[in-house]
Amino acid sequence: MKSKALIFGLLAIIFLGACDNNPYGKGMKIYNKHCAVCHADDGNGLQGLIPPIRQSDYLHIHQNDLACIIRHGLDSVITVNGVVYDLQKMPANDILDDIAITNLINFINNAWGNKEEFVTVEKIKADLSRCQ
Ligand code: HEC
Repeated sequence: MKSKALIFGLLAIIFLGACDNNPYGKGMKIYNKHCAVCHADDGNGLQGLIPPIRQSDYLHIHQNDLACIIRHGLDSVITVNGVVYDLQKMPANDILDDIAITNLINFINNAWGNKEEFVTVEKIKADLSRCQ
């Protein structure tokens, strides 16, 4: 019995450790640190003020613009799931390098029921080279 408990404990440590180190886990940490304050833990944003990124049609349509939005912020009038957002601007994130942005996008693309494509750092670098 004791050894079973030990094996279970070890597996739990390995599993939790893996969760922390995989791209999705890393992306989640970045999200919680840099994004959740506005877009909320559940990705729902703040009604009328901060758009949702959970099941956002904007996120789906603008997959190739996400990296630039995250790096340079956004200050325009946008419509997300039928609601117009023009009151607040999103700040830039100079501190996040290309790999951090890739991990972050892979997290938001697949969190909260989102089902977007997995992105590679090469794609993100190419997207970033086209920021306006
Ligand atoms: C200070 C609040 C704030 C923070 C922090 C913030 N955002 Fe935003 N975000 C906004 C606002 C406001 C908009 C809409 C901007 C506009 O209307 O031009 C927006 C728009 C977006 C959009 C496009 C619209 C949509 O909902 O699909 C995405 C994607 C996004 N943010 C992701 C992120 C990610 C990822 C982070 C973390 C790096 C982040 N944001 C951090 C406030 C914030």
